[in-house]
Amino acid sequence: MAKTKEIKTIGILTSGGDAPGMNAAIRAVVRKALAKGVKVKGIKKGYQGLLSEEIIDLERYHVSDTIQRGGTILGTARCLEFHTEEGQQKGVEICRKYGIEGLIVIGGDGSYRGAQALSRHGINTIGIPGTIDLDIACTDYTIGFDTAVNTAMQAIDKVRDTSSSHERCSIIEVMGRNAGYIALWCGIANGAEDILLPEKYDYNEQNIINNIINNRKRGKTHHIIINAEGIGHSTSMARRIEAATGIETRATILGYMQRGGSPTCKDRYYASVMGAYAADILCAGKTNRVVGIRHGECQDFDIEEALNMTKSIPEYDYEVARILS
Ligand code: ADP
Ligand code: F6P
Repeated sequence: MAKTKEIKTIGILTSGGDAPGMNAAIRAVVRKALAKGVKVKGIKKGYQGLLSEEIIDLERYHVSDTIQRGGTILGTARCLEFHTEEGQQKGVEICRKYGIEGLIVIGGDGSYRGAQALSRHGINTIGIPGTIDLDIACTDYTIGFDTAVNTAMQAIDKVRDTSSSHERCSIIEVMGRNAGYIALWCGIANGAEDILLPEKYDYNEQNIINNIINNRKRGKTHHIIINAEGIGHSTSMARRIEAATGIETRATILGYMQRGGSPTCKDRYYASVMGAYAADILCAGKTNRVVGIRHGECQDFDIEEALNMTKSIPEYDYEVARILS
């Protein structure tokens, strides 16, 4: 059997939206690779920083005191140029210029497309799921989700306090792009009266209005509606609901606070394990793979297969949310 070429230097970048726990993953990659005698180059600001050659050597001490920090110490960006064949070719040439034989990309689906392109051009790549949205099908877990839902849950509890005092209805919009995982988890954890998910919502506002009126008759002083970003329009929805029910209704859009803050234990743990695993398989010569957590363990998948997988909101969980509210 042909011996796998020994890898001497790898690169790492974070791409797309930042997520709490990305630093724990960077730290794990750096320390696992260094322990194997492999050098690590940090690429700042995602693919944009690759193209503008913002590349630094990463030593052990560069990742000291970072595991507890939110955001990403490497910075992140969205880079239109990397969608083009010329941009990708330039990225390959820059990798070669800096001796980067393999690259670890922490990000979401879009970032894996970039990794796939580099892999096609001969630079080995491994993706790590880093997004608060939990919308990557090949993995049960994505870095940042746990911190984001805990941040949102605490904020929603606070809005509930003031909603009850004023006997108002509150629509609270959470992030998640086109996926409803953050909304579903917060909806259940916060005991919301209505949960609007892009995967399920039928745009029948009359049902919500009836629910609010019935709950008020039963003596409920608040009515919390968790609305997913993928549905959006919370402010206009609040105006319509107030007009139809006569109950004061306010919209709160939680926004970017959900992406910040110190990562939870779960985010630090899985980020560390997946980071180390990614460094291992990259150094072992694997390419065009995405790391995921399945049944509590690390696995890796071909990027194309991973991108073609689908996952859906569990029907049972959705039903539970409805019954318990
Ligand atoms: P995420 O990784 O969170 O899904 P994006 O979809 O914004 O975030 O992708 C992050 C970056 O990955 C993009 O700005 C671009 O640089 C790169 N990228 C996305 N799609 C592609 C593609 N089809 N080909 C090459 N690079 C891509
Ligand atoms: O993917 C993470 C996420 O925060 C989504 O929930 C949201 O739709 C998007 O990023 C916002 O991206 P941007 O930082 O470009 O506004």
